[in-house]
Amino acid sequence: MKLVFATHNENKFAEVKVLMPSHIQLVSLTDIGCTEDIPETGSTLKANAQIKADYVTEKFNLSCFADDTGLLVNALNDAPGVYSARYAGEQKSAEDNMNKLLMALKGQSDRKARFSTVIALNLNDERYSFEGTVEGEIVHQKKGAGGFGYDPIFRPDGYDKTFAELPLETKNKIGHRGKAILLLIRFLENSKSR
Ligand code: IMP
Repeated sequence: MKLVFATHNENKFAEVKVLMPSHIQLVSLTDIGCTEDIPETGSTLKANAQIKADYVTEKFNLSCFADDTGLLVNALNDAPGVYSARYAGEQKSAEDNMNKLLMALKGQSDRKARFSTVIALNLNDERYSFEGTVEGEIVHQKKGAGGFGYDPIFRPDGYDKTFAELPLETKNKIGHRGKAILLLIRFLENSKSR
């Protein structure tokens, strides 16, 4: 069965493709000739993921899933949340975003935060969603060179290193996206027998 992963991020696509059950033929937006940047106009992670999945299903008449991720900071009433990519402006710079967040938390003792990934799946005219989260805290200064986005300032609970200092295997195992993808994969494996 053909299933579209609605992402333009080739690294994300490659990571997920190897995990798919054998009855799923995973194809990318490039594979189906979708070059446009699908607008993320929703006010929640779930709404944005659904908008992206619906765009592909409606325009190309294909089963599809899409993901959306945000960093939710306790002391900032869960900001930047759905606006994580553009927190410091339309340039979507990870450095600018981290600097702005560190400034916003200056002098703040409550540094609790969590990453959340929501996946929306449109499969055979039905809609499903899956969520993965990881709890942690925002450290006082950037540490580590791995990962991307806010990884250098996020330390997951139970570890003394940031996501940017931890091996990718660890991040995938305990992280938000890895958990959401695992739920999706389990569901797809079971869907074969339905
Ligand atoms: P997206 O939904 O994957 O586009 O992610 C939205 C924003 O959240 C990105 O621009 C990143 O800055 C941030 N982000 C997403 N996933 C991660 C992650 O695993 N680590 C750190 N930051 C992330």
